[in-house]
Formats: sequence, C-alpha cells, structure tokens
Amino acid sequence: MSANNDKPLILIIDDEEALRDGCRQVLEKSGYEVITAAQGAEGIKMARERVPDMVFVDLKMPNMSGMEIMEILSKDIPDTILVMITGYASIVSAVEAMQKGAYDYLPKPFSPDQLRVLTKRGLEHRTLRLEAKKLKEEKDLMQKNFITFVSHEMRSPLVVVRQYFETLKEIAADKFDNDIKEIMERCSKRLENLEELVEHWLDISRIENGTFAQRKEAVMLSSVIKRAIEEMAPVCRKRKITVEADVPDNLPAVKGDEESLVRVFTNLIGNASKYTPEEGKIKISVEKDDYYIRINVTDTGCGIPADKLPFVFEPFFRVKGKEERDKGSGLGLAFCKKIMESHHGRIEMSSREGEGTTCLLTFPVEVETGK
Ligand SMILES: Nc1ncnc2c1ncn2[C@@H]1O[C@H](COP(=O)(O)OP(=O)(O)OP(=O)(O)O)[C@@H](O)[C@H]1O
Ligand SMILES: [Mg+2]
Repeated sequence: MSANNDKPLILIIDDEEALRDGCRQVLEKSGYEVITAAQGAEGIKMARERVPDMVFVDLKMPNMSGMEIMEILSKDIPDTILVMITGYASIVSAVEAMQKGAYDYLPKPFSPDQLRVLTKRGLEHRTLRLEAKKLKEEKDLMQKNFITFVSHEMRSPLVVVRQYFETLKEIAADKFDNDIKEIMERCSKRLENLEELVEHWLDISRIENGTFAQRKEAVMLSSVIKRAIEEMAPVCRKRKITVEADVPDNLPAVKGDEESLVRVFTNLIGNASKYTPEEGKIKISVEKDDYYIRINVTDTGCGIPADKLPFVFEPFFRVKGKEERDKGSGLGLAFCKKIMESHHGRIEMSSREGEGTTCLLTFPVEVETGK
C-alpha cells in the first residue's frame, strides 16, 4: 500500500523498457504512484517491501517467468491485485495465471485506455475484497463475543438455579401439596430444556472455532452405531418404536472423533423416534464403494414438507405443525451437519410427507492405491 501518500501504488514487472515507461506515463497521469522492475527477483523484492495495491507482471521474461512471480506474489501479498501481461497467443497461459491467483490478464499490445480501465476495475475489486474481509472478521468477532457471553453469563447461573431447584424439590417432597409439586416439576423440565439449548449452542460454536471434535483417530462406524442405538433404546422402547440396523462389522474405519459421531447418530435416532408415531420403524442401513461409506437412517414417521426440507439444517429451524409433540431446540441437525463437515463428510435429508424421512450420511474412506 502506498505508505506515504493516498495514491494507489502500482508495480510493473516487465523486461521491456518501452513498455514499463509507457505504462508508467499512462498510470501516473491517472493519479497513481508507479514503481517498476525489469526482472522477477527485483520485482518480488519491491513487492514485498512496498506492498503495492496492484501488480502487472509480464508473462515472458528471462530468468524467472511471470507465472512463477505470480505464484509467489499471490501467496506473499494476497490482498494485492495481480494482472498478467500476455502476448497474443498466450490465452492458455492467461487461464493458468488466473488459476494461480491473477485477477485478470492484459493481452499485448494494449491501448492506454485498456490499461486505465483495467487498473480502475482492479483497484475497485480490491477495495470490495478488503471490505468483505473486514466484514467477515467483524462477524467472526461478534460471534466469538456471543459465545463468551452465552457460556459465562448464561450457563453458570442456569446451572446454579437448576441445582437450587433440585434442592427445593427435595424439601418440597413432604411440605407441599401435589399442585405445587407439579408446577415445580414443569419449571424444572423447562430449566432442563434451557440448559440443553445452551449446551447445544455452545457445542455448535465450539465446532465452529475448532475446539470441538478435535480427535482424529480410526473410528469403527459399526461400534458408533451400536452405541447410539443402545443409548436411545429406552426412548424408542417407550414409544414402541423398533430399530433395525444392518451394519456389517468389516466396514473400513473412518478418521474422526468417536464421541461426536455417536452424538450424530443419537440425534438422528432421536429425531426419527420423536417424529414417528408409536409402533413405527427406524432402519439403519449401509452401502460402501471404493470411495465412500453411505449410511441411511430411515423412519416411518410424519415426514418433512418439501418446502421445509432445505431449511432443516439451519440452527433453530423447526417444522411447525400438529406433529410437534416433543419440544426441541432446532439445533440437533445443525450440530450433526457441523460434525459431518468436520469429518469431511456430508449429511442430506430426503422425505415424503406422511410416509417417512431418510437421513443420508456420507463418509469418505481412504482410497486404496493398490501399492
Ligand atoms: N426424522 C424426522 N422426521 C420428521 N421431521 C424431522 C425429522 N428430523 C428432523 N425433522 C424436522 O426438522 C426439524 C429440525 O430438526 P433438529 O433435530 O435440528 O431439531 P429438533 O429435533 O426440533 O430439536 P433438537 O434436536 O435440538 O432437540 C425438526 O423440528 C423437525 O421438524
Ligand atoms: Mg432433533
């Protein structure tokens, strides 16, 4: 960036003196500060020291090619707009340059106007890019502050209140009549829900800032599924829902965090049982090919309306309707999605209203190279 004045700083790296001078004249007249270099090493040194707003690099130069320079600059000064100057027949190189991080290319010969227009456009693009980056940083910071707020300001008092309530319930056992005890029971249930919501929310935030699901070890999905089914057995039994699992023991291991994967499955089985009428069925099946393990969790429940399906992974989204018998935070699937993404996997839902829902989990498996 032009450190000493407000003029945008442009660097031209080209071995042709006439071209350097020509560009300099045009761009200086437009109010930019221009520096030039006749070859790659000198240009890179200048770029690192002065951090220009925009750099024009000639593709064909002795010693170091424009492509190499471009590659280095796109890493060293990522906020700088890079443009490749190419000869007539180098459209392929221009494409390659763009893949290496160039913003655009300028075919030779070019007119002063073409140079001016491209420079103006490039600098505007840079401003927008920087603004977007700043906004994202601000958003991330807000989110981080919010997490801190939730964890410190809400969670601790909530735990304390619940503990007091438990004590109160014990005292109430022989002192209050049933009406009051019932009200207390409802309060206590609501407190529990609130605590769960805060925990869920914190989990999602932890995944986002990378402090959750950190372990990366070989995990057997068959044992993950078995654990999840066992954990959810009482819930399913209560609702007379059968769980059928067809999971081969010899599935290849996936790399990941066993505990969080168990929670993905308890969430899915939880949903399947929650949104399925009594005596319904949940089926878990597995397919495998050379690249992926695919697991389907299918239920015979109320299904999800097609127009609501795209939103089920959004935090706090819940389908409203008569089927809503159990309360929930609407964070379960958002949590599952984050966990699956942290395992380089995917989660997808398909559903038919009134017939049932299938959740498909896809895990990549390590590809055998035959070595
Ligand atoms: N198997 C399913 N059958 C029908 N609807 C489902 C199913 N799974 C999810 N849904 C719908 O998607 C919504 C979002 O699911 P999600 O698990 O994220 O939240 P929740 O179950 O409402 O609450 P939580 O899981 O946080 O307790 C649910 O409210 C429900 O409407
Ligand atoms: Mg749920």
